Amino acid sequence: MTGGTIEQATATDPLARQRADARPDRPRANALDRPRADPLDRLRADARARDAAGLRRDLSPRDGDHDGLIDLASNDYLGLCRDPRLVAGAVAAVREYGTGATGSRLVTGTTELHAELDRRLAAFTGTAAGLVFSSGYLANLGAVATLGGRDVLVISDRTNHASIVDACRLSRSRVAIVPHRDVAAVERALAERDEPHALVVTDAVFSVDGDVAPLAGLHRAVRAHGALLVIDEAHALGVVGDGGRGAAHAAGIAGEPDVVLTLTLSKSLASQGGAVLGAPEVIGTLVDAGRAFIFDTGLTPAAAGAALAALDVLAAEPGLPGRARDRARRIAALAVGLGLETTPDPAAAVVPVVLGAPEDALHARDLCRKNGLKVGCFRPPSVPDGRSCLRLTARATLDEAELTVLGTALEMIARSTGRSLHT
Ligand SMILES: Cc1ncc(COP(=O)(O)O)c(C=O)c1O
Repeated sequence: MTGGTIEQATATDPLARQRADARPDRPRANALDRPRADPLDRLRADARARDAAGLRRDLSPRDGDHDGLIDLASNDYLGLCRDPRLVAGAVAAVREYGTGATGSRLVTGTTELHAELDRRLAAFTGTAAGLVFSSGYLANLGAVATLGGRDVLVISDRTNHASIVDACRLSRSRVAIVPHRDVAAVERALAERDEPHALVVTDAVFSVDGDVAPLAGLHRAVRAHGALLVIDEAHALGVVGDGGRGAAHAAGIAGEPDVVLTLTLSKSLASQGGAVLGAPEVIGTLVDAGRAFIFDTGLTPAAAGAALAALDVLAAEPGLPGRARDRARRIAALAVGLGLETTPDPAAAVVPVVLGAPEDALHARDLCRKNGLKVGCFRPPSVPDGRSCLRLTARATLDEAELTVLGTALEMIARSTGRSLHT
C-alpha cells in the first residue's frame, strides 16, 4: 500500500489524520502500567469531533413509499423497484429455492437461477463469462484483490468508489493513485513501474460527480502495456449505452480479453448483489482463488430472481435507459439555469449540486425535504473537503410535475446558499 492511499483516506477524513498522528514511534509502555481506559471513550470523542465538523450521520427508516416524498435520492434509476414483474421474479424464486442461498456458491449456494444470471449478465454486457457475488462491494473486493498481488501494480483513479479503495488495500499490491480521469498519468505509471504486471481500475460513471471515465483511452493504455483494465459499471449498467448495456459496451471494449467489468444488481436492476464479468481465465481465477467469492454465502435466490426479471424488462423496454438519461439532463439544466455548480451534461443518472461546506449541504437537503423531495446529501469522507453536495438521481419515471417541484427547491437553494454561480 502506498502513501498515496493513506493520503487519499486522510484527506477526506479528519479523524483518520488525527489517529495517524496519535501513533507514537517511541517505545511502548508496559500495557499493565497504563491507566485502565473505558474502551468506548475513544469512540465517544471521535463522535464529538464529527458532531463539531457537521459530519454525524443518521439512519432514517423508510416508510414503504408512503412518506409522500419525491425520490431523487435512490439508485433505482429505472424505477423498477416495485415493478410487478420484478416482484413476481423474486416471489417465484423464493417459492422454488427458499429464502436463503443456504451456503457459499461453491457448496450449496449456486441454484439454476445463479447460473442463469452468470450467463445472462455476460451476454447482456457483451462479455465472455460472468460470476455473481452477493454484493457489488464484494465483486470489487473479489476482482481487484484476486487479480492484484505483490507482483502487480494497481493504478486507481483518485475518486474511485470506496469499495475499490478497500479492494486496493486488500490486494497487497503497490497502489498508484492517479488524478481523476487522467489517461496520461495512468500511462506514466504503467511505463515507469517495476512490477511485471499491472491493473488499472476505474469507476465507469463516478458515483457522486456522475462523470464518465475515459474508457477508450484507458483501454489503449493497458493494451500498450500488457495490463488489465477493471471497470466498475455500478452506475452505468442499465443507464449508459445501447439498451443500458453499460459504458464499456458503449466504448466498444466490453468483450476485450484485457477488460474486466464489475457491477452491482442493486441500482438499475433494483435488486441486490453484484457480479464480475470478463475472460474465462478471469472468472476461473475468481472461482478458484477469490476469497470474497469463496468465503461468502451465495446471493439470496429472491435477489437473483428479481435481477433476471429486470434483465427481461430491459430487453422488452430498451427505451428505459434513454429516459433515465433524459431526466438527468433535465435536472442538470435546472441547476445550470440557476447558476448552481453541477455536472452540466450528465451521461448517466447521477447529478451532483455542489454546495461546499457540510452545513450548506445539510441546509439544502432540509430545504428539499420541506418541498417534498428526498435527496442524497454527501459530506466528507464520502467527498473531498469543501465539496459537500446534494446528489440528485434521475429516474426514468420522473414526471413534469416532479421536475417542477425540484426547480422550485433548487431556486430556494441557489438564493439561500449564495453558491449560485450567477451571484
Ligand atoms: C461505484 C460503486 N461500486 C460499488 C458499489 C457497491 O455495490 P453494492 O451496493 O451492491 O455493494 C457501489 C454502491 O453501492 C457503487 O456506487
